[in-house]
Amino acid sequence: MRNGDFAVNNRFLRACRREPVDRVPVWFMRQAGRYDPEYRQIRETYTLLDICREPELCARVTRMPVDKLGVDAAILFSDIMVPVGAMGMSFSLQENVGPVMERPLRTDEDVARLHAFDPEEALPYVLETIRHLAKALPVPLIGFAGGPFTLASYMIEGGPSRDYLRTKTMMLARPDLWHALMDKLSQAMSRYLRAQIQAGASAVQIFDSWVGSLSVHTFRAHVKPYVQRMLTDLAPLGVPVIYFGVHTGELLAEFAEAGATVVGVDWRTPLDRARQRVGTSVALQGNLDPVSLFAPPDALRREVETVLRLGTESPGYIFNLGHGVKPTTDLAQLQRVVEWVHAFEPQNQAARRTKEELA
Ligand code: CP3
Repeated sequence: MRNGDFAVNNRFLRACRREPVDRVPVWFMRQAGRYDPEYRQIRETYTLLDICREPELCARVTRMPVDKLGVDAAILFSDIMVPVGAMGMSFSLQENVGPVMERPLRTDEDVARLHAFDPEEALPYVLETIRHLAKALPVPLIGFAGGPFTLASYMIEGGPSRDYLRTKTMMLARPDLWHALMDKLSQAMSRYLRAQIQAGASAVQIFDSWVGSLSVHTFRAHVKPYVQRMLTDLAPLGVPVIYFGVHTGELLAEFAEAGATVVGVDWRTPLDRARQRVGTSVALQGNLDPVSLFAPPDALRREVETVLRLGTESPGYIFNLGHGVKPTTDLAQLQRVVEWVHAFEPQNQAARRTKEELA
């Protein structure tokens, strides 16, 4: 265990390694966010980036869902765009819109201007937050970075996009430029994730949220080699690496092949089908539809149990949503889900052992 010296709940890390667990581990993407009134109150005074730059406050926000929901892992509070600033591109984060670039990346010169960065020098506050949390948290801390396709899409489009028209056009019309960009992004994010692990993150997640907009053959030719290199670079550090995107049902086998420890699955793909695609060498994470949290508790419970039943058919399963918590979610619904996940008795005893057997 990387966190501190005291006993840390490690069922999340055990499940990442497909080891037996006493309970199914659970955490939620965007578990620190606007659904929490205390977070909204902090946001009346501080912007998102203010919070990221203030280690004590950032650590407090990161920890809130651990104390309020009882989740089995914390995820660093930050945004995938934070290191993009360190590479020399200015952006703003607009509420209910997303990242907006001051000047989108379009030309050879724009790619040439992007620069590598030393995480300790450029983003010391991120690593300080991690060091602080690693000593204090009762659960493992997940570090993260954006995936190369998703970061490139914001940089090239200049903001969120429906069809990724400019991004895919660059990929096809200027493969040389695209590959130069992927090369820089994947190397910079590898280094950033390595620094997070060295600072005390027990696992990392690569959020390639929008990579599911690609066909399988395009992913293979234009993105996979870079994801694979990131995963190969990180492997010697010995911590689990989760790779996630939405609409990625057809790409799941590719993610496992690229070397992910854990494959994140959105709600569109049933977990038993995901398992058939990825094989038995990786763990799965997902995949409750975040909109189910708006259903009455009894309907929500049925959804949770369907996901749990499919997820626990084979060892190596972490309960999560299929994408982030929506800002208008009721906190009590998230608390219920955690309770139900922890109360769940898997049919498959190979995936579960009693506490005594694990001691
Ligand atoms: O979620 C919140 O309510 C907190 C605040 C917030 C974050 N980013 C935190 C974050 C806000 C307002 C942003 C801006 C932003 N960045 C948006 C718009 C959000 C909105 O609805 O106002 C978007 C789309 C981004 C880009 C981004 N950031 C992506 C695509 C991802 C990957 C996860 C995903 O949703 O697909 C992030 C990561 C991110 N942003 C995290 C946090 C706390 C980290 C991971 C996590 O907690 O799961």
